[in-house]
Amino acid sequence: MFISTRRLRRCQFLQILATCFVVSLMLMWVQDDNDVVNHIKSYSYRYLINSYDFVNESLTIIQDESDKHSYNYLISNKDKCQNENVLLLLFVKTSPENRRRRDAIRRTWGNEDYIRSQYNANMKVVFALGVDRDPAKRTLLQKQLESENKVYNDLVQQDFLDTFHNLTLKFLLQFGWVNANCPNAKFIMTADDDIFIHTPNLVSYLKGLDRIGVQNFWIGRVHRGSPPVRNKNSKYYVPYEMYQWSSYPDYTAGAAYVISQDVAAKVYKASQTLNTSLYIDDVFMGLCANKMGVVPQYHLFFSGEGKAPYHQCIFNRMMTSHGHVNDLHYLWKQVTDPKVMELTSGFWGDAYCRLVNMILLCRILYKDTYPCSAAWS
Ligand SMILES: *[C@@H]1O[C@H](CO)[C@@H](O)[C@H](O)[C@H]1NC(C)=O
Ligand SMILES: *[C@@H]1O[C@H](CO)[C@@H](O)[C@H](O)[C@H]1NC(C)=O
Ligand SMILES: *[C@@H]1O[C@H](CO)[C@@H](O)[C@H](O)[C@H]1NC(C)=O
Repeated sequence: MFISTRRLRRCQFLQILATCFVVSLMLMWVQDDNDVVNHIKSYSYRYLINSYDFVNESLTIIQDESDKHSYNYLISNKDKCQNENVLLLLFVKTSPENRRRRDAIRRTWGNEDYIRSQYNANMKVVFALGVDRDPAKRTLLQKQLESENKVYNDLVQQDFLDTFHNLTLKFLLQFGWVNANCPNAKFIMTADDDIFIHTPNLVSYLKGLDRIGVQNFWIGRVHRGSPPVRNKNSKYYVPYEMYQWSSYPDYTAGAAYVISQDVAAKVYKASQTLNTSLYIDDVFMGLCANKMGVVPQYHLFFSGEGKAPYHQCIFNRMMTSHGHVNDLHYLWKQVTDPKVMELTSGFWGDAYCRLVNMILLCRILYKDTYPCSAAWS
């Protein structure tokens, strides 16, 4: 009894000390824009305090229904999910001029027919976009988009300018569309159009989860304790007026993440009540989820900025890999080759792959693909 009280005291003392440390850091550097300092501040906050209620409270807006700003659909494909039992609804964030990327995706990892016939699963791929930012090219491109959609019926477009700083509008487009047209999809994914997704692996994994019935599910590459970038020259610059605190709530990289149906509904609801001026869409997603009490989980085979190593022992586990534009066909052929399964299964296959993955992933020279721990998992 006596010892446990003492332990308790020591624990409290440490907590107070840690809090003092953080507070003093914050006071000392409150106006400093140094990158290292920003990271120290945000990590200390994330790991010692980790409460973001204030974000919810300060960014929640009291909205007047009449001045709610929403954009109009130019192409909606609202019947895409009708009367169907959709396992995975996959949004690809694309831009009007990226026709070649869309075609490559349709013929490789985004091939719905392949997934249906080989994996007996219903996946729907939808491309989300705005209108071209260049008025001179807009009319022609729009015509081309309409004829592209006549062939594939897979575009969803609203009349906002398709720019980097409008990514949150694209986010609202996706969640609004799900809510209105596909609320029964079991899982929803958002991805960039320069990514490779191992849809056979992903769909098999999700089918397993669907059998158990998961809720509050949100996976991807998790950013923990990221500080807002205060350097005015950065693409990700966020002024204090937009986000005044030292750290974002946890969120998954916008390049690719997957959520369950209930999370999509909650995030949609939150997105209707938060100030949408923060234009970094994955951070905005984090704010919405935080408001609803949903926490992301790190999936080891979602890559960061880097490309996954090309090897059978990676192919049999990979979920996403970043930075693929010209090699989609090649990679798709490689990963769907039956040899991958042959080589990597069984006791020896497993042992061999563990060794190979350790060599491939646990390098001193850091490449932002899968962490070393993925080789052990
Ligand atoms: C976002 O789209 C709207 C509507 O088209 C446009 O008025 C605005 O300038 C765009 N914002 C940026 C930052 O591109
Ligand atoms: C949203 O935040 C911006 C600052 O980023 C602010 O200028 C704007 O007034 C806010 N909007 C509402 C409706 O509170
Ligand atoms: C977020 O704020 C709203 C009102 O400001 C509140 O009703 C809600 O419970 C808060 N959510 C969380 C997770 O704290």
